[in-house]
Amino acid sequence: MRSVKERRIVRYKNLFDLTDRVVLITGAAGGLGQEMALGLAEYGADIAMADLFPEKIEKTLTGITSLGRKALIYKVDVTDREAVYRMVREVHQDFGKIDVLINSAGVNSRKPAVEYTEDEWDRILDINLKGTFLCTQAVGKIMLAQGRGKVINMGSVSSVLGHPHHGPYAASKGGVALLTKVLAMEWAKSGINVNAIGPAYIQTPLTAEYLAVGDHYQKIASTIPMGRLGEPSDIVGAVVFLASDASNFVTGHLLLVDGGRCAD
Ligand SMILES: NC(=O)c1ccc[n+]([C@@H]2O[C@H](COP(=O)([O-])OP(=O)(O)OC[C@H]3O[C@@H](n4cnc5c(N)ncnc54)[C@H](O)[C@@H]3O)[C@@H](O)[C@H]2O)c1
Repeated sequence: MRSVKERRIVRYKNLFDLTDRVVLITGAAGGLGQEMALGLAEYGADIAMADLFPEKIEKTLTGITSLGRKALIYKVDVTDREAVYRMVREVHQDFGKIDVLINSAGVNSRKPAVEYTEDEWDRILDINLKGTFLCTQAVGKIMLAQGRGKVINMGSVSSVLGHPHHGPYAASKGGVALLTKVLAMEWAKSGINVNAIGPAYIQTPLTAEYLAVGDHYQKIASTIPMGRLGEPSDIVGAVVFLASDASNFVTGHLLLVDGGRCAD
């Protein structure tokens, strides 16, 4: 007979295993989308990658298939309800199920509140917030029928902090955080966990232009207690946790991955 300690090791060591789980990622061509796709595939997941510019995903697709996992690419505009439902139907047909949805499509533009045009406001809110809702609604119907699923939204430290020059972005990310809680409540008894990740600045195409200017990098780094910006790889542990059975009793949570930024 095995000791309690040994039995525990046998029981828990596969807690993060994602073998044969099907993960759909939007914004999959992005800096975080591609890194999350590769990380999840290393844990055994098959990946459906959707983006407005899917041609940028080819290299990551090769990386995932070389791990022996299935990966397919889809073109979608997350603000277009019909296109979202079509893409989700295709993913469901191609993979047979959807275990995890990661809403990572997102945009930003930084400027004083008085300078935003209505079109700029609409674009940021439509992609970041409405897009997250539409994708979650479409996949949620499948997950409700399955009686299981995990939704992971990309929030931000801007979900909880009032950074100047982030008006529409912060409004959208605050909305994402609260939408996460609402859906977590609605689906808590249906086997669906809904959580969000809240990164601080991470070096990706989303932030590259801003960080390349003057002392922006140093200025941002100085606001982060750990003294550095994030790397895309810093997100992988959080997303694997929220996608896996390790987080089965976690829902409605915003998991900050921010080098201590919001602990300040
Ligand atoms: N990088 C950071 O510092 C940071 C910090 C906090 C939160 N986030 C959030 O994480 C997510 C991913 O960020 P990232 O750094 O990978 O950004 P990124 O710019 O590298 O990638 C975003 C992706 O979204 C796609 N996209 C944009 N509009 C779309 C649309 N209408 N339909 C489908 N796809 C669309 C883009 O083509 C791009 O591939 C975003 O939601 C972002 O707000 C990023």
